Amino acid sequence: MFEFTRRALTAGIPILLAFGFLLSSGSISAHDGPHKVAEAEIHKPTPIPDRINLCITAKPATSMAVAWRTDTSVAQGFVEVAAAEAGPMFIRSPKRMPAAHEDLKSDLSEARYHSAVMDDLKPDTPYAYRVGDGANWSEWFQFRTAAAGPKPISFIYFGDAQNDVKSMWSRVIRSAFQDAPRASLLIHAGDLINSANRDAEWGGWFEAAGFINGMTPIMPTPGNHEYSKSTNGPVLSAHWRPQFALPANGPAGLEETCYYVDHSGVRFVAMNSNVRHEDQAAWLDSIMADNPNRWTILTFHHPIYSPAKGRDNTKLRDLWQPVFDKYKVDLVLTGHDHTYARSGMRIHDNVPTGGTARDPQSGTVYVVSVSGPKMYRVEKQPWMKRAAENTQLYQVIRIDGDRLLFESRTAIGELYDSFELIKRPGGGPNEMIEKIPDTPERLGEEVKTTRSRTMEAGTYLR
Ligand SMILES: [Fe+2]
Repeated sequence: MFEFTRRALTAGIPILLAFGFLLSSGSISAHDGPHKVAEAEIHKPTPIPDRINLCITAKPATSMAVAWRTDTSVAQGFVEVAAAEAGPMFIRSPKRMPAAHEDLKSDLSEARYHSAVMDDLKPDTPYAYRVGDGANWSEWFQFRTAAAGPKPISFIYFGDAQNDVKSMWSRVIRSAFQDAPRASLLIHAGDLINSANRDAEWGGWFEAAGFINGMTPIMPTPGNHEYSKSTNGPVLSAHWRPQFALPANGPAGLEETCYYVDHSGVRFVAMNSNVRHEDQAAWLDSIMADNPNRWTILTFHHPIYSPAKGRDNTKLRDLWQPVFDKYKVDLVLTGHDHTYARSGMRIHDNVPTGGTARDPQSGTVYVVSVSGPKMYRVEKQPWMKRAAENTQLYQVIRIDGDRLLFESRTAIGELYDSFELIKRPGGGPNEMIEKIPDTPERLGEEVKTTRSRTMEAGTYLR
């Protein structure tokens, strides 16, 4: 017994000495445990392409744009594109195009953003592409060009993602992808992130979307959170133009934030509701005067009919809605109010807070939606056919000839709202068929009872 104790002590002395040395040298600590990895490390650019996103062009039947990020060691980026085939041999003769690039010094690092437009493509054709520097390549992504004329199309629309984007918005975009994996567009109605110039937030946005952004073209419009304040007025996030490659067919100075796209018989228009409203009203009038498409879908950030009475935007409504009415815009998709609210076609009888009533015959349906976790309250008003609080949503919209089917689904894929629009012969207002599911509206008590449980992070709900 004594011998055993003596041996144990003798053996233990070197171990204790070694432990003491490690402690004093800092190799281990008495408080060693998980530690948070620094954002600069998590979002560090490398020579390997990341943040790859396909961007819609003004002519998606024959072109598609792509943008991506590397570190600044990559002197020249390339995109390789080939008509995709069932077999793997399409990789033998891709067309290689050099990319333009732009360096961006963010709050975390200096990165190089590359972009290229793949053009001379055939309509309604599957293509494969990859991006890289000649030595380091992305995987081959696939996409399909738009048809040359009208063709059935589906697209996805998101209200604000904005907060905890990687953590809590990821499930929404992924659920949307599961519902409409072959959608032709991802429309983001602004406030993709919360702090315009925080690299980590943009990194989270790209991570949440993952490969979906590489194969489904995005069509974003900036929200107020993509702008920062300055003495000279609002300034667009320094990330916006380098990291996206969007059309520049809007008013001069608003390139890539106000633009339009003709896709499969639909005119999609992104407007920038943050700045220069008068200029955009005139611009919209000019492009709508020459619109060969049967359907017109608009998106911008600030709703002109707000679910909250205190946020009613009469100024913007008085300026823009006459143009929407004049050209019988079918659908207006917005965000900003962190709730869900959807109008019928005749909202003039119940305009909130004394604003100006507008043409009841235009047939425009207005939607506010939210996809991220930040939640506000709804003040129910008669113009709202369906509303929701405390609900993360995405919308899948399908157009086939004379019919448009709108579906709003919750983060878990449940149908929350739906209607159908049907074009009437002769160009009158659309016929509207309500298809609201037989489930209660998520309002009132629902919010009170879930408030503390869902919003652990603090003060989202107000
Ligand atoms: Fe906003």
